[in-house]
Amino acid sequence: MIKYPCMWGAAISAGQCEGGSHKGNKGYSIGDTQPNERERCFKRYPLPDEHTYYAMQKGVEFYEYYEEDIQLLKELGVQCFRMSIAWSRIFPHGDDEEPNEEGLAFYDRIFDLLVQGGIEPIVTLSHLEIPYALFEKYDGWENKHWIDAYTRYAKICFSRYSDRVHLWITFNEINMALYLPLSVGVGVDRSEHKEECCWQAVHNMLVANAKAIQLAKAINARNEVGAMIAYSPVYPMTCQPEDVLKADEIRSNALTIADVLVHGAYSDIALNRFEKAGIDLKMSEEEQILLSKQRVDFLATSYYNSIVASSDDAAAKASGNLFGGVKNPYLTESEWGWTIDPLGIRICLKELYDRYNLPLMIVENGLGAIDEVIDGQIHDEYRIAYLREHINEVLKAIDEGINLKAYTMWSFLDLVSASSGEMKKRYGLVYVDLDDEGKGTLKRIPKDSFKWYQKFLKKQRI
Ligand code: BG6
Repeated sequence: MIKYPCMWGAAISAGQCEGGSHKGNKGYSIGDTQPNERERCFKRYPLPDEHTYYAMQKGVEFYEYYEEDIQLLKELGVQCFRMSIAWSRIFPHGDDEEPNEEGLAFYDRIFDLLVQGGIEPIVTLSHLEIPYALFEKYDGWENKHWIDAYTRYAKICFSRYSDRVHLWITFNEINMALYLPLSVGVGVDRSEHKEECCWQAVHNMLVANAKAIQLAKAINARNEVGAMIAYSPVYPMTCQPEDVLKADEIRSNALTIADVLVHGAYSDIALNRFEKAGIDLKMSEEEQILLSKQRVDFLATSYYNSIVASSDDAAAKASGNLFGGVKNPYLTESEWGWTIDPLGIRICLKELYDRYNLPLMIVENGLGAIDEVIDGQIHDEYRIAYLREHINEVLKAIDEGINLKAYTMWSFLDLVSASSGEMKKRYGLVYVDLDDEGKGTLKRIPKDSFKWYQKFLKKQRI
């Protein structure tokens, strides 16, 4: 019987947690400039003004609380911790002459604490945290200049931390560039051919990923590098062939990206699709060789919800991570309208493993919900149910022979929601006393789900 070991852990990201946007010489990131309004991911904003509250500038002050937070992480008993480095803390303008030593030293302290605590760091280099100055100066990721800027940043991180960090994720959800481009530094608002601009940005990220893999291996042969997509199984609404075709079309964006990461080239179907859509990617022969040679060691994905595809444009729409499809009459939804589908996580793993036969990581999976503090406690049985049911399916997938290298639930701490900037959409095992206006004591309170996951993690270590 084939059964691979899986590391169990939790995740956060720098942009949504750290705060301290004015501390330690950090530069502004795009997130720091997005006010907490609905359209925040779909607009380009000017530099922050003094009168508006920007949730990501404060995060949940992980920058100040990291010692206390890592102590809680140890108490939780995780084997691994997925986190990210803020690019704008290392290079405040994205491509400064010299890296910012204060920023580098901050992550030194974090990695030291993790390693001393027996926790394996899984580090994402770019997770929704893009230097604002770079975005203003050189358009966005559609500009090849970004490949060099990112590569310099990646090289500094590998050189400095490879003695303690061996598992790297180059990019969070690369397909986000197609759905929320302005949030990840794609200058789609200034482009005449928006689809081409987004795919050019994706292509440049894929080249940057390949360059980073090359560097990471050269710096330390122990380094393993993966990249991440957001993946959801897409179910056809009916067995009508049109619905099945629609499901295939929706799935294809994520898979086009993963194909390049894993197989080192775009599929013929993807290339034809680009041509028909008038997308003329700037892609040199040298880049194609690089992509074919430098492939990921593992593929990471987030999983929040499944999607239903319908060829009927009038079908009722659902929400979800990146995009939602239409409503699934067989499943319930979160308070934010995201479908809850535990079996979907197993289907997601099976589909990806069948197609790529490469180690996988689930680096985000969790429930955004409103929590209530009652007598100083948070009884989040809904989050426990979500996690229990999803993890049960993950265990079944592992039993089926899928090589899942790591599972890190989202999120360890309550943090600022990426799509809405809200604090009240809470994912954490640990409650943070902070509201949507930035008011609160920042006190950390482990929720009931913390205790539940702690018990589960203990059993995994036996
Ligand atoms: C993923 C992102 O897309 O979804 C996370 O990688 C994000 O950063 C998560 O927090 C949940 O989305 P939201 O918008 O509810 O925070």
